[in-house]
Amino acid sequence: MTQPAGKNQMWSGRFSESTTELVAAFSESVSFDRRLYRQDIAQSTAHARMLARVGVLTAVDADAITGGLQQVLAEIERGEFVWKAELEDVHMNIEARLTEIVGDAGKRLHTGRSRNDQVATDIRLYVRDAIDVLLPLIDRLGLSLLDLAEAEADSIMPGFTHLQIAQPVTFGHHLLAWREQIVRDRSRLVDARARLNVLPLGSAALAGTVYPLDRHFVAEQLGFDAVSENSLDAVSDRDFAIEFCSCAAMILVHLSRWSEELIIWSTPMFGFVALPDRFCTGSSIMPQKKNPDVPELVRGKTGRVIGDLNALLVLMKGQPLAYNRDNQEDKEPLFDAIDTVTMCLRVYAEMTPHIVVKREACRAAAARGFSTATDLADYLVRKGLAFRDAHHVVGAVVGFAAKAGRDLAGLSLDELRGFSSAIEADVYDHITLEASVSARKTYGGTAPEQVRAAIARARGKPLV
Ligand code: ARG
Repeated sequence: MTQPAGKNQMWSGRFSESTTELVAAFSESVSFDRRLYRQDIAQSTAHARMLARVGVLTAVDADAITGGLQQVLAEIERGEFVWKAELEDVHMNIEARLTEIVGDAGKRLHTGRSRNDQVATDIRLYVRDAIDVLLPLIDRLGLSLLDLAEAEADSIMPGFTHLQIAQPVTFGHHLLAWREQIVRDRSRLVDARARLNVLPLGSAALAGTVYPLDRHFVAEQLGFDAVSENSLDAVSDRDFAIEFCSCAAMILVHLSRWSEELIIWSTPMFGFVALPDRFCTGSSIMPQKKNPDVPELVRGKTGRVIGDLNALLVLMKGQPLAYNRDNQEDKEPLFDAIDTVTMCLRVYAEMTPHIVVKREACRAAAARGFSTATDLADYLVRKGLAFRDAHHVVGAVVGFAAKAGRDLAGLSLDELRGFSSAIEADVYDHITLEASVSARKTYGGTAPEQVRAAIARARGKPLV
């Protein structure tokens, strides 16, 4: 049967006219889904082998197909492959080129398969590969945080609530808080990976197929843990992509919070840290400027990925079973989320080991903010005052010290006793910054010994 010129050979049998150029341009996806080529070729190779195993294809055809697919792969990777928008998507581009290379065998590859289960399989493989890139990046970043926390286990900085100085904490403790966040992010990715590692192929368009496919064989070839249980679900749901984007958004929300802190801390007003020059940029007009562009961009890009997650959720919400073309719109947000979270983690993994902590400035800031006021109140409680009374006394002491421009530990014993006769000389063992952090020895607390214990636990335990 001959085809009218310009018509898509893959599906135009029943059509009496070609799509208009506008519709073709509107509906093509090869401009962005071509990046699935590796997954598509891996899947087609496994499918062809399986078809030969179950006797649907001859071994000769299967060999021709798998050999031809290798050639297509090489052409793509050498940059020689000619992608054609009129062939719509990555799947049809590859199949058409395969058929040019191997002839009729290429036309038999699609037996028992639809682009619906094909694309669902490709994306799962793609997201799985992306997760496998992200996990080691998170591990690297987590290790850098442990190393830096170890170096700063005794360094004192103000701990904040409401961004007001609250109590002194150790810098190492603060860094370990960051690490906890990405450890949970990592486990979320691992969970998402386990749930998505299920093979849709064999679901065909929506209902399964008449060919005696060995789906478990294909699953094994492609490293899937299981085959999907329901063909309608497998071709249509993109919850795994949504779940991935949610993990990516959470990672970025965490990195964005760190970024916010680094940006504030690196201003001259704080001066807690210095970022290496190679992670900053200058101003074209103000010669003194050193701008923390990397954290700023990470904070900014977080908005994009939250948008990607939102796009996928809204894309899915109105779709009846089973496949709808809407789903073609899953790729750009998903790819954007993958690219963005990968870059942001990469840049943080590079930068973190080189963050310079300015210990003196951190300590001085903690000393300025009456951050040991709670310790003085706790001291008075131990001397017999009720906590509310102690709180009141210390409030008055702080008011006095603020007017005098001095820190609590800088007040004389006489001055302190003017507020409560319960105060004795041993008060200074409790209201210095060092005494304050050392006293917070609860499991998970800020005391240097607890920070070191937490680091030792973290080093001894593989991440899951
Ligand atoms: N490019 C399409 C997508 O991404 C492939 C599946 C097309 N299926 C169809 N029935 N038109 O979803």
